[in-house]
Amino acid sequence: MNVMVIGSGGREHALAWKLRQSSSVKRLYCAPGNAGMAAVAQLVPASVGDFKGLRKFALEHGIDLTVVGPEQPLVDGIVDFFSEEGLAVFGPTKSAARLEGSKGFAKEFMTRHQIPTARFRSFAVNQKTDAMAFVDELSLPVVIKADGLAAGKGVIICEKRDHAVNALDLIMTKRAFGSAGERVVIEEFLQGEEASVFAISDGKEFVTLAPAQDHKRILDGDQGKNTGGMGAYAPAPVLTAELQEQVVDLIIRPTLQGMSAEGSPYRGCLYVGLMISSEGPKVLEYNCRFGDPETQVVIPILDGDLAELLLSASKAALKPELAGRHPASAVCVVVASGGYPDAYETGKPIHGLDAVKTDEGEVVFHAGTRKEGDTIVTAGGRVLGVTAIGYDHDLEGTIQSAYRAVHRITFDGAYYRSDIGRKALKEGKAISMKEQIDR
Ligand code: AMP
Ligand code: GLY
Repeated sequence: MNVMVIGSGGREHALAWKLRQSSSVKRLYCAPGNAGMAAVAQLVPASVGDFKGLRKFALEHGIDLTVVGPEQPLVDGIVDFFSEEGLAVFGPTKSAARLEGSKGFAKEFMTRHQIPTARFRSFAVNQKTDAMAFVDELSLPVVIKADGLAAGKGVIICEKRDHAVNALDLIMTKRAFGSAGERVVIEEFLQGEEASVFAISDGKEFVTLAPAQDHKRILDGDQGKNTGGMGAYAPAPVLTAELQEQVVDLIIRPTLQGMSAEGSPYRGCLYVGLMISSEGPKVLEYNCRFGDPETQVVIPILDGDLAELLLSASKAALKPELAGRHPASAVCVVVASGGYPDAYETGKPIHGLDAVKTDEGEVVFHAGTRKEGDTIVTAGGRVLGVTAIGYDHDLEGTIQSAYRAVHRITFDGAYYRSDIGRKALKEGKAISMKEQIDR
């Protein structure tokens, strides 16, 4: 089959890298892709928002499966648009993508289906007084969220009442998030450890992939500003076998059944962002796509043909046997431009990419790179996802291997966290880790 991946980040590179390994994939295209993806696929110079151009390309090039990476085109209805022409596309329809596109919709949906999540209320922009009254009902900190897509910046954790006043002012009066702030969700702050689970669903049946953990803050020890994700590892031992069962029974199955019952069957990758609280797993957020950088660690340990798996889901005939797990762990360390998530420079030549030892399980997924002549240079805040895959039951070894690879690569101003995966080495997690790797 011929496959097209839409997107240009580390997630899409990881998907393309795995798709390239499928014996069933003949031609592989990435639109628009990046310098790293050019090594595994042919790049198509079309932007992710150019639905007409992308669909025309798919029709003209006999694309049998399109895999959509980012949320924006999904929320904007690219799947519906491709389906009109009978094209197979992996991802939810516009209606199903509301689980990510509107936090208010997601929260109200969870209430309707008794899916565990933080206590909340949602407000229109002109309900600031009511919103503040609800803040005063909750105990601090409180979490204030813009309803719509805000490129990961729409969640504000308010430690003090003043911060909540300012956050509401920012979203409701200054309209800092534009139409994404048309409504505001206010919710209680949940304590615990976070984890992400992906379910591949064909609208009826589903299968879950290895649980992962992201590292959202810029500094070691989960300090500093929020980012798009500074690293990830899988499997995440915080989700013991028992907790994984609970996540499936209390969250994933009721979510997919609920979407079907409401007339929006969910086909695609459902990303469930969880807080493992003392009362059990609760949903922090749904995303309507694979996570980034979790994909860079979940997909390398997938033991199955990704192209056939995604095609089966997109054709409502899921083959769950294609979603096995290698007895392995993976760790991805994101190497970013100095200054990220604030202002940073680009265009810095990247050295050492050739020194990466693929035969030792090292692989570099490009996030923000481009080619200038023969040189690969930085082109974004998050530049590379330097990843190691370890088959030796030993996450610690995989972490070391990822950092050995990181040390081979240099560019001016390169910054990375030095503690990716360390949380999983904490006492008491070894048994769950072994259980998961052996699973
Ligand atoms: P979201 O985009 O809704 O997942 O929020 C982004 C991040 O904000 C999450 O990954 C959490 O780290 C944090 N967060 C969101 N909601 C809550 C909550 N209710 N309690 C604690 N942390 C939260
Ligand atoms: N890793 C967070 C996300 O993909 O939204």
